[in-house]
Amino acid sequence: MSIIGIDAGGSAVKLYDGKQFRQFPSAIGYDWRERHLQQQHGEHDYDWAYDGRRGFAGTLALHESQMADSLKGDSKAHPEARLRVLIALHQYAAGPEHDIVVGQPIGTHTKGQKELIKKLLIGEHEITINGRRKVITINRCEVAAEGVSAGLLAGTKGQVRVIDIGSGTVNYGTLLDGRYKDLESFTLVTGMETRRNPDLDSFARQIAAYAVNKGWGSQDTVYLCGGGADPLQRELVKYFGSAQLLKPGMSEYANVDAFYRIAKGLYANGQTD
Ligand SMILES: Nc1ncnc2c1ncn2[C@@H]1O[C@H](COP(=O)(O)OP(=O)(O)OP(=O)(O)O)[C@@H](O)[C@H]1O
Ligand SMILES: [Mg+2]
Repeated sequence: MSIIGIDAGGSAVKLYDGKQFRQFPSAIGYDWRERHLQQQHGEHDYDWAYDGRRGFAGTLALHESQMADSLKGDSKAHPEARLRVLIALHQYAAGPEHDIVVGQPIGTHTKGQKELIKKLLIGEHEITINGRRKVITINRCEVAAEGVSAGLLAGTKGQVRVIDIGSGTVNYGTLLDGRYKDLESFTLVTGMETRRNPDLDSFARQIAAYAVNKGWGSQDTVYLCGGGADPLQRELVKYFGSAQLLKPGMSEYANVDAFYRIAKGLYANGQTD
């Protein structure tokens, strides 16, 4: 049995099992076809078959699928997110059975959506990738809130704010002594790949304005994570003087690191790995 955190992001799927951080592009194409030229496009070329469908994923989808896309948005309660999770487990998890924690944006981190995600994931799945068939069993699954969960990595007492800047969402989280504060945690449904204005300074202004509107102050303790954290830190410091990176150089892994820690706390009783 392995304990694993998986963050099936709109841009990249991230996995952490306590030992290795892994990621691959979230792109999925359903228009499978025979390829005459079999050249490799990248480290993450996936030809998948699952649930009666077949297609390309990862770097193969980016190059060879006409309609490759990755659903970006404020919910991960959909079959495409399930496929991302199963590809991650097929490629990077040891053994056939897993206890996992996955993520959902704060704005849609509701009981109904969480139940939907668990229903999609828990159970036995047969999936073939690049000709390798595997039966994957997800025994236990919990759904953590993106962004605010990453705040657990700060380990700071008192009030901590987190801004998780992803490809299609910005999650804002508030923790008080390590406990989530729902009132001041929310999601802005735009991100590094969906923002209207390509300038980093105007995106930072938009991110900050949204937070200030919800009651955040410029003196608050603010941590940044997600793929947008590093490029935006210099801009965001202008609005939140303390804004610092939660996981410098590995900002996109902050959520999955926290998901793994949560999974360990939930499932590790009596287990040694
Ligand atoms: N140095 C950089 N400069 C500009 N953009 C970057 C940089 N590094 C990462 N990004 C962007 O960050 C995004 C990936 O971040 P992340 O992995 O946190 O997103 P995600 O979790 O997949 O998305 P979401 O949380 O919205 O589902 C991509 O859009 C990528 O283009
Ligand atoms: Mg993300």
